[in-house]
Amino acid sequence: MDVLDHLIEEHRKVERLLAQIKESDPGSERDRLFGEIEASLSTHMAVEERFLYPLIAEHIGEDDAEDATDEHTLAREALASVKERLEEGAFEAAVDILEKGIAHHVEEEEDELFPELREKAAGQLAEMDPEDLESKVETGPDGDLTKADLYEKAKEADVEGRSTMTKDELAEAVDD
Ligand SMILES: [Fe+2]
Ligand SMILES: [Fe+2]
Repeated sequence: MDVLDHLIEEHRKVERLLAQIKESDPGSERDRLFGEIEASLSTHMAVEERFLYPLIAEHIGEDDAEDATDEHTLAREALASVKERLEEGAFEAAVDILEKGIAHHVEEEEDELFPELREKAAGQLAEMDPEDLESKVETGPDGDLTKADLYEKAKEADVEGRSTMTKDELAEAVDD
């Protein structure tokens, strides 16, 4: 399964979770479902923004990458509005808004952007391992940066000798 198939599978998973949370009553089950949706979406969007949308900007168009990122912003806002209403009567309406926004975005990714990327960036896509990308965007329990995050920062700052540094050394070098 390549990275795009993996992302498409995650779209289906989030759609299922949204359908489930709509049927839920306020309480622990709803809270658990919300936590799962929030975690799935935040990793999914971070992977796309960091690794996939740059390919879209390069091969399809910068505007397309910007629009897709903007739609993620809308999804994050809709998610926050659902979170505020977990126990309110307007919960279902808030989920509807989130669901519609995501459906629109997912349709564009699956019907337009991803197929075009498959044609134009097959080589770069083939080098991407979904699990590896996820570990790069996920942070530790205290919000710590991962070694991969620190390495990226070191690369941006052009730190010398970064490729042989330990995680602590990278953290220190980036901090300077
Ligand atoms: Fe997506
Ligand atoms: Fe997306």
